[in-house]
Amino acid sequence: MSSDPSSSPFAEHVERLSRTHLRELLKDGARGEGLRLRLGGILLDLSRQKLDEQAIDALGRFVQASGWEKARDAMFAGEPINTSENRAVLHTALRASGSRLKSPAPRDALQEIEQTLQRIEKLVHAVEHGDTESMGLASTITDVVNVGIGGSDLGPRLATHALNNFHLPRIRSHFLTNVDGQAAADLMRELDPRRTLVILVSKTFTTQETLLNGQVLRDWIVRAYDGDERATARHFLAVSANVKEAEKWGIVASHVYPMWDFVGGRLSVWSAVGLSLALAIGMDHFRAFLAGAAEVDDHFRSAPWRQNLPVLLSIVEYWNRSVLAHASRAVIPYADLLGDLTSYLQQLEMESLGKHVTPQGKQVSGVTVPVVWGSVGTNAQHAYFQALHQGTDVVPLDFIGVVKPGHTLRASNDALLSNLLAQAAALALGKTFDEALAEAKEGDEIARRALAAQRTFEGDRPSTVFLLDALTPHTLGALIALYEHKVFMLGHLWGINAFDQWGVELGKAIARQILPALNGGADELAGFDSSTRALIEAIQDRREG
Ligand code: F6P
Repeated sequence: MSSDPSSSPFAEHVERLSRTHLRELLKDGARGEGLRLRLGGILLDLSRQKLDEQAIDALGRFVQASGWEKARDAMFAGEPINTSENRAVLHTALRASGSRLKSPAPRDALQEIEQTLQRIEKLVHAVEHGDTESMGLASTITDVVNVGIGGSDLGPRLATHALNNFHLPRIRSHFLTNVDGQAAADLMRELDPRRTLVILVSKTFTTQETLLNGQVLRDWIVRAYDGDERATARHFLAVSANVKEAEKWGIVASHVYPMWDFVGGRLSVWSAVGLSLALAIGMDHFRAFLAGAAEVDDHFRSAPWRQNLPVLLSIVEYWNRSVLAHASRAVIPYADLLGDLTSYLQQLEMESLGKHVTPQGKQVSGVTVPVVWGSVGTNAQHAYFQALHQGTDVVPLDFIGVVKPGHTLRASNDALLSNLLAQAAALALGKTFDEALAEAKEGDEIARRALAAQRTFEGDRPSTVFLLDALTPHTLGALIALYEHKVFMLGHLWGINAFDQWGVELGKAIARQILPALNGGADELAGFDSSTRALIEAIQDRREG
């Protein structure tokens, strides 16, 4: 789809809506109908998007003609829709146990998934009841460290932090991700190695950052046992699709939990990758988390497009990005517990949809993923909301709020929610020049008009509100699954494979070449471009000094 609105099949709608301010659309009493929908304990409000019924219908016709239902069914059934890797995409099978609808996924995959859930359950039970020795692990575990990066970190990190109010007593959770040694050093200072359980999470078991951090923690634990290497087996678990490498690394086979090729890293929190989450919140809550996602899966599989929340979310994003050419989208959770949501969505959306070539190797005809960014409100309001209100770019927003908090400080939550609602309203409605002029009392006419111009808010800036009844395992599961299926839909509409990530490989390969060169001589530097060479030399000079 062209990013030039005038040449798109939606041109007439763009033209009509360019003459209609959101203020006008919101005046219409019936506006909420069909634009405010409930699912999984979440109210989704799309009424502040710059769309009217006619435009939604036109986009709906486009989506219907795209064959999205067939594509969706192919994903659920386990067809190899990740064509560049010839893999199925079966993260939905991971939560099929919570579905009302029968899963069409291959039976062997469903069986393996169920067996793994049972293994997770056994471990969670043992840790909860202080019975870890029976599983060949250290007798007292007080701290669990998830070591992973990207999808092997962001999902469990997001959910473990978000569900803080559901944590079991006795176990503290930690996440070690970046290869910056500072984080590992801080953690080792804080924790007792004899009471720490480390979970190395890496689908490939080749990821540099994870293996290096794992090695640092292994040395630390072995040191605590006077150099006895056997301690590794009692303090380490792994989650990986590469069991051989995990075993080679020193983790006993019975302590390796599976990952599968049919689950992408960024979609894997529902698998054993969520082990640290399950250990933090217990198995009942972990299953409730799966059930929340499963409720969205069932809905996505059965609701007609006009009531289908992931489809509507994709329509809105398609409109904002492909038709109106908005280059970024801000995600602002009004809940500190959801502080990791934006970075989670950055991987989910940008790693999935940051492509410019179709599976047939052709350049896509329009634009694809917008930049996803943001941070928690209200803090964000006091940092960059100025630009969202009065900057030259229009940035659509997702606001996420929680109606019933997990604490009793009602006044604080009311303040939080009123700010969320106020921002969405202010961005949509704005303040006219005349309103600003009426407020400008000081100075002569020229000064009053100059001030009024600076105090005018154009408004007409779109946003979506996700209102969670409460932040529970179920609503969090549903929220994540909504975004996952929106991503699936956009991959389909943009004609790209949302399930590979070749774009991350080049940098990894060059880093592998640079690493030895940092300690090398002139010969090792010869192969690099002049800029890289100069910077390596600068590093070498300065660290000797
Ligand atoms: O480099 C990107 C990536 O491959 C992500 O897709 C993945 O989630 C992350 O690295 C971690 O990979 P692994 O689980 O294999 O260590």
